[in-house]
Amino acid sequence: MKVGLFDSGIGGFSILRELLDFPLELFYVADDAFSPYGKKPDELIEKRCHEVTSVLVDRGVDLVVVACNTATALGIQSLRESFPGIQFVGVEPYLNIVNQKKLFEEGRLAALITPSTKSSLRFKGLQERVDPSEQISVFGCPNLAGLIEKAYFEGMNPQVKKEIQKELAPIRKGSFSHVILGCTHYPLIQSFIEEELGCSCISPGPFVAKRVFNLLDKGTLVSSTYDEFHFLSTEKGAWSLKKRKELLN
Ligand code: DGL
Repeated sequence: MKVGLFDSGIGGFSILRELLDFPLELFYVADDAFSPYGKKPDELIEKRCHEVTSVLVDRGVDLVVVACNTATALGIQSLRESFPGIQFVGVEPYLNIVNQKKLFEEGRLAALITPSTKSSLRFKGLQERVDPSEQISVFGCPNLAGLIEKAYFEGMNPQVKKEIQKELAPIRKGSFSHVILGCTHYPLIQSFIEEELGCSCISPGPFVAKRVFNLLDKGTLVSSTYDEFHFLSTEKGAWSLKKRKELLN
């Protein structure tokens, strides 16, 4: 069975790394020609969701993981309407954690998301449904995803580190026990965020992978491409086959 994933860049690797444990043929599109999504107009993000999904459908995928909270917020509904033969799994900030009573009573919660996710109707609906009294403090981080791209390709050098610290500065260290990572880029520097904010982070990767696995037709799992995936950067423009160790730290 073929499964596609996409994100504005490398953020979806935080989901991909969980799926590489399953014997699937995986196709990943990094829409880096249009990244970051988090500050782009809603219509453009929706349009990119359709264009990238068409590329994945052309490769014969049966299921698409919208491995990006921003794209899920702005595009998944119209994707489902436009591609009725394809199953879609999205990624949303895990606000439901507020209902885990024990955790909530003991701690204070925050969520980090992109500005586009924050202003989206879908996120507002989610907030009204699961956290109507807004007990979770939500922070829109305009530059964090872009800085994580930079850290990934250039290394976490002192300059990038300083810029990430500046981006996290509005959140006082120690003010939250748990921080929901509501952008798929953020788990890629999870331990850095935990150290900076003095918190535990909650990432959706394992939950999304489980959901995907439950939807799969188990009879069509393949073992030949296990631990490998097909990769397309929209900026570079050609598919290549990558090994887990080439792209994931
Ligand atoms: N990784 C994406 C998300 O989960 C988008 C980040 C961006 O491109 O701004 O929201």
